[in-house]
Amino acid sequence: VNSGFLFIPCLLITHNIGVLLRREDEPPLIKGWIPFIGKALEFGKDAHKFLKEHKRKFGDVFTVQIAGKYMTFIMDPLLYPNIIKQGRQLDFHEFSNRVAPFAFGYPPVTSKFPGLREQIKRSFILLQGDNLTPLTESMMGNLMLVFRQDYLEQESSWKTAYMYKFCNSIMFEATFLTMYGKPASASRHSGMSVLEKDFIKFDNMFPLLVAQIPIWLLGRTKAIRQRLINYFLPHQMSCWSHSSEFIRTRFEMFDQFHLDQMLLVSMVKLRQTHHFAILWASLGNTVPATFWAMYYLVSHPEALQFVRQELEDVLRLSGVEFSRDQDVTSLTFSTESAIKESFRLCSSSMNIRVAQEDFSLRLDAERSAAVRKGDVIALYPQALHLDPEIYEDPETFRFDRYVQNGQKKTDFYKDGQKLKHYLMPFGSGATKCPGRFFAINEIKQFLSVILLYLDLELEEGQSKATLDLSRAGLGVMLPAKDVRFRYRLRGQHFSSGT
Ligand code: HEM
Repeated sequence: VNSGFLFIPCLLITHNIGVLLRREDEPPLIKGWIPFIGKALEFGKDAHKFLKEHKRKFGDVFTVQIAGKYMTFIMDPLLYPNIIKQGRQLDFHEFSNRVAPFAFGYPPVTSKFPGLREQIKRSFILLQGDNLTPLTESMMGNLMLVFRQDYLEQESSWKTAYMYKFCNSIMFEATFLTMYGKPASASRHSGMSVLEKDFIKFDNMFPLLVAQIPIWLLGRTKAIRQRLINYFLPHQMSCWSHSSEFIRTRFEMFDQFHLDQMLLVSMVKLRQTHHFAILWASLGNTVPATFWAMYYLVSHPEALQFVRQELEDVLRLSGVEFSRDQDVTSLTFSTESAIKESFRLCSSSMNIRVAQEDFSLRLDAERSAAVRKGDVIALYPQALHLDPEIYEDPETFRFDRYVQNGQKKTDFYKDGQKLKHYLMPFGSGATKCPGRFFAINEIKQFLSVILLYLDLELEEGQSKATLDLSRAGLGVMLPAKDVRFRYRLRGQHFSSGT
């Protein structure tokens, strides 16, 4: 899952164990994916600078050779719609299918289950459209459950906490309960904090696994990954109730195959690993995105106040008290804008596609580029996110960038032309992240809860949060260092008991 964009990161770390990788001036030893991925990852930390420099020298479309593979970068966002349209020849899964089994540890048997890939793809619909409503409602209940028990039942004095840890502890458990369900006789799983810690340890190693660094070189990562996979043992999962339709369907999907004993064992392992991969897909980017949305609001009190007011107005308008059943996902343009703005500043999801045949890639009405089968085509949306021609003062957080006259703002321009794609944290085309609507809803719900229930302030004397660049190209970047903040329950809510 979620790995076609996984590229350029972890330069520093891969340099430190550079013996695994070849140097720039060496000829490719093996022409293939592994040296290519390793090499591509090497220039991760400086990707933005490197690509900007190349764009300046060679124009909006240029090809670099990385470990024997040709990689063509499309830097002009006005060309994106044309490239995305040619999705039939430009495949996402050829790359992700190489990276995901390595990172998540799938047994190499998917091809033994005919039709499985198509069914996996069909299951994505269960994260969208009408199916989004039960998922979002369930998330609201779980969010309130965790938040109420862990944070609301405290007295009203100021408390200090680490912000990333805070976001993670709430979002991890609430998302887990929403996707996978609750234990048979309790509302929360015991051992969640162990699972959470293992997840963080695995996640820290994730860029290295994407770089195809053998897992046995990464300390205890293999054992940790196995513990995470074992959490999804079938007998354990079958006792959980209230799991999402998405996970139930994916659980049952594997049962339709009539298998001999050996394949049955592989199938069970494959299913468990898939559940684990979905756990990563549903949290690996959502938690850092939640952190940045919260961080930017708390560090811009005027924006926080505006968004809070919007949420209170929406609730007042609908004439209801805020409660676990309240859907706050619509009518909140400024909240949504603040979330988008943090995506703009902190997401770096490179779109990687592999040419399926020799063909002429149409760039625009006049231009095309010759592409060979196996070449890589990359869109690098971070360049557009930080382009001062598209976004004035691009390094600054402006919570209302995506609102105009009380409506969603969707017109952003480059060279005087309106852009079709102006914000791309979720990939593009047919493989665009299927969890994107749920992710945005979850973050909105989280912000609603904390803004309505808590007073929030950054602790003084800290430097600004900066991005950990080891994930550039991979998705939403983590903060280089966690941030301390203060919170206390807001007056009107302590006694309500909601
Ligand atoms: C802030 C949160 C998220 C971000 C930034 C994000 C980003 C992405 C990106 C960039 C891709 C690759 C798309 C491409 O290259 O075209 C992707 C794929 C995927 N995402 Fe997300 N994602 C997020 C949340 C979620 C959630 C909550 C779920 C599930 C509940 C999810 C499930 C998936 C899956 C299953 C794929 C693989 C799609 C395929 O194989 O066709 N994601 N995501």
